Amino acid sequence: MSTAAQTSQSKVTTCTLQKMKREGRKIAMLTAYDYSLASLVDQAGIDAILVGDSAANVMAGYPTTLPISLDQMIYHGASVVRAVKRALVVVDMPFGSYQGDPLEALRSAVRIMKETGADAVKLEGGEEAAESIRKVISAGIPVMGHLGLTPQSINQFGTYAVRATEEKEAEKLLSDARLLEELGCFGIVLEKIPARLAARVSGQLSVPVIGIGAGGQVDGQVLVLHDMLGITQGFSPRFLRRYLDLSGEITDAVSRYTQDVRSGDFPSSKEEY
Ligand code: KIV
Repeated sequence: MSTAAQTSQSKVTTCTLQKMKREGRKIAMLTAYDYSLASLVDQAGIDAILVGDSAANVMAGYPTTLPISLDQMIYHGASVVRAVKRALVVVDMPFGSYQGDPLEALRSAVRIMKETGADAVKLEGGEEAAESIRKVISAGIPVMGHLGLTPQSINQFGTYAVRATEEKEAEKLLSDARLLEELGCFGIVLEKIPARLAARVSGQLSVPVIGIGAGGQVDGQVLVLHDMLGITQGFSPRFLRRYLDLSGEITDAVSRYTQDVRSGDFPSSKEEY
């Protein structure tokens, strides 16, 4: 029996993920942005799908996640939700849709929930985002936090290097993580921080901690789908395990098709009406 078939078919909720942490079962999460790939990811038995604002990079080709709009995130979110039967679907709140103004954050989150049908939203930041998080959660919308390397703050960081390697930043991250749990976040993503720090955070919190470049002693892992499938090129951080080399396979297939069309080999008599 395949792994997918062995996985229970009942819909994954935020409570499921919390139960998985309590039972010591690791959570597998991947990004997806469109109907076709989300459908395959869901059928393979993934626990959670993140409609990440990394769509700005892998779908739209922007160098940062900042340009993607709320309307564009809603378009991707709704496409994914239409495909998914089992996994929990979390949609990223894009840059500018929640920072600074809790009411604006609530309006943005409500639009995401109403117009996509997603199960939850994710937003970046600790203490700075606390009022927005409180407001969104007060409306009954599940929120996932995101600490460590928070790409929407790239212009402040100036680099995509590992975060919280110094004591002061590590202490702030720990206290931000505790705050996010107190505020009611159902889970937290930790991006690109030392594995020992991530393990401390996971040990101190009762909500699941999902890592990306945060080592193995957390409650689950998330990767960008296009990175782990080898569709993105020229991006090889240490934390990334590539399960396929689709860029090679796709360019090879397209090149063979092009040759077949040019040579008249395609279509053959069996491929015509
Ligand atoms: O946008 C995204 O894909 C993310 C993951 C890297 C966690 O936030």
